[in-house]
Amino acid sequence: MTDVTATPPTQPRPWLDATLPVEERIDLLMAEMTLAEKVGQTHQVANINPDDDAAEIASGRISSSLYASGATAGNERDEGVLVGNIDAAQRHAVEGSRLGIPLLFGRDVIHGHRTVAPIPLGIAASFDPDVAEEIGEIAAREAAVDGVAWTFTPMVDISEEPRWGRVAESLGETPVLSGRLAAGLIRGFQGDDPSDPDRLAACAKHFAGYGLAAGGRDYDTVSVGENTLRNLHLRPFRSAVDAGVLTVMAAFNDIDGIPMHAHEHLVREVLKGEWGFDGVVVADWNGIGQIVFQGVAADKREAAALAIRAGVDLDMVSGTYLEHLEELVESGEVDLALVDDAVRRVLRLKFRLGLFERPYAARPGASNAPTPSTRAAALRAAQAAHVLVKNDGVLPLGDEAGKVLLSGPFVDDGDALLGTWVLDGRGEEVVTPEAALRERLGDRVTVADGRFPDVTLMQARAADTSVLLLGEHRSRSGEAQSVVDIGLPPGQLELVRAAAAFGKPLVAVVYTGRPLDLTELLDLADAVLVVWHPGVEAGTALADILLGDAEPHGRLPMTFPLSTGHIPTSTHQRRTGRLIRADVDHQEGRYIDALTYPRLPFGFGLSYTTVDYGAPVLSSPTMTTDGSTTLTVTVTNTGERPCREVVQLYFRDPVAQVTRPLVELTDWALVDLEPGQAREVTFDVQASRFAYAGRDLTTRVDEGEIVLLTGPDAARLQPVSVTITSPKASS
Ligand code: NOJ
Repeated sequence: MTDVTATPPTQPRPWLDATLPVEERIDLLMAEMTLAEKVGQTHQVANINPDDDAAEIASGRISSSLYASGATAGNERDEGVLVGNIDAAQRHAVEGSRLGIPLLFGRDVIHGHRTVAPIPLGIAASFDPDVAEEIGEIAAREAAVDGVAWTFTPMVDISEEPRWGRVAESLGETPVLSGRLAAGLIRGFQGDDPSDPDRLAACAKHFAGYGLAAGGRDYDTVSVGENTLRNLHLRPFRSAVDAGVLTVMAAFNDIDGIPMHAHEHLVREVLKGEWGFDGVVVADWNGIGQIVFQGVAADKREAAALAIRAGVDLDMVSGTYLEHLEELVESGEVDLALVDDAVRRVLRLKFRLGLFERPYAARPGASNAPTPSTRAAALRAAQAAHVLVKNDGVLPLGDEAGKVLLSGPFVDDGDALLGTWVLDGRGEEVVTPEAALRERLGDRVTVADGRFPDVTLMQARAADTSVLLLGEHRSRSGEAQSVVDIGLPPGQLELVRAAAAFGKPLVAVVYTGRPLDLTELLDLADAVLVVWHPGVEAGTALADILLGDAEPHGRLPMTFPLSTGHIPTSTHQRRTGRLIRADVDHQEGRYIDALTYPRLPFGFGLSYTTVDYGAPVLSSPTMTTDGSTTLTVTVTNTGERPCREVVQLYFRDPVAQVTRPLVELTDWALVDLEPGQAREVTFDVQASRFAYAGRDLTTRVDEGEIVLLTGPDAARLQPVSVTITSPKASS
């Protein structure tokens, strides 16, 4: 362990009195801080090293570190960038610096730490905030053992762009789904009290508009009006703030020419002012420095001034604040109050996390390896992420499936099944499809090496049923992994075409971080499951669902287009003068060389049974702008197996001040149904759900008609109208 000589405090530290209110503790501490120490609190470094950085830490010039993991020595991983021994670095800050302000250790713990769950897009497919919460809670507990206090999740960027690799990290294309799942993750990570040693601070990212990157090219420019931002892209951030998220990360993109790291209106005025967010706005990686590359600042000094004015509190690794803020304040170019605001927020976060009371992370003997109970949670999440998008009756596989061939690149590749943004999960801890199916099917299963399609074909010819594990490797989605073609990777369709020609049952399982063009695959295969990248229980989840030990109930959180050329497609497409209903393949203004429906609509997913939907019924056909009504729909399991149905509620606003979406998801219910069972599902429908930003950008609820629509997905909906009236008229 690093040798640290502790310097006892030379002065009283009244802010250490945990009985005082946090704001008072911040006042007491800030009253003692020099400008240099304040600026130090705005500086985050990557890969802190307790030996090399000792003097820098002790001088109070580092506030936070990114990526370190491992509470004590001996945790170093071979990548070289994952430095362990957090506590040794912390000791320099707490015992070696003048004011003893603890360091804050952040790390991307995105969909699990050691127990890796499905990628966020897969978590979104569960439509279940409880799944999100459970995954967040486990990830927080495991990461805390490694000294991590802050994670950079959830990502709530709304995107209708499957070419953009980062949709894998997103929670889908609609604001309500994204917002509720984000709230679930935030609850899981932060709990009721983020100072609980098993909890972390969460971070809603990337603020804002990042999902609109031109052409789906990562980091690209964004052109969007504030109305669309407010009615769509800002909404899940607002949900995250309302859920108590402690931090928000700025986005790499500009919006209409203004880099988000310099966007005073959206960051300082809207997020911090209008919404009252009192947490930390952290830059993204070198995001402040990049203002120079974006050509909006001549140099890093000017970039620092723009970013601090905009309201970015903590500089992730660019060093611009550390180098320039002091001088910018002394020269009068930057108001000290702006720096004070940033420092106050960073200190508030550290107090809220309990770092002053409990700066050290070491827990002798504690393990964060997956356990049977964390694996059970990961399995629930992975099963909930499996979306059955076609089934001609071959699934679940029974005795009649005979000899089963299992092949494709994901058969035994643990790493590939973990998905993007996994820093601590281990491929060797993944239950692979091969392992799980061999255990269940014994001699009935043959496994063919996915690297040789010709070998697969020979075996498929001999087998009674083929299960092909297709799709994209985890490295093909995520940050900076954009593609021009969302088709299956090269060679996979050829294999499917050839295997389908044998005329035997063919099941395709699609591992992916994005919506893919599955149009031909859906024609060729008898059953198709979209399973994203499912995490450590990938094989168990697949075997359970293939063999019918679990019922598939995931739903698509993004629209799957007919082809790459159909992008963008999404549920929130707004009305045009020539397109007023989503379910009409209107000729004008659409494509002349192809149909224009999505291949698989948002919210779509099958089960092993059939479910009948009755017409929606309202308790009252009117409600006031501040009132509510209830909508009831009866769903009946008309098949022979149980199911979990995702009963979905959408709406359309026929007349508003601005153009509104063709349909928008506003609520849903997860309903368990036994064979033959009917249940009434009741939604409480408040008029406030239909609030939107009008022409003057303020939020309003209009009087008039709203069409409510219920059904199993965005394309199979039954309408009922409600009229919203003024409270005065009805009283
Ligand atoms: C850049 C990514 O955009 C962001 O999502 C991530 O949290 C940071 N790097 C830190 O790793």
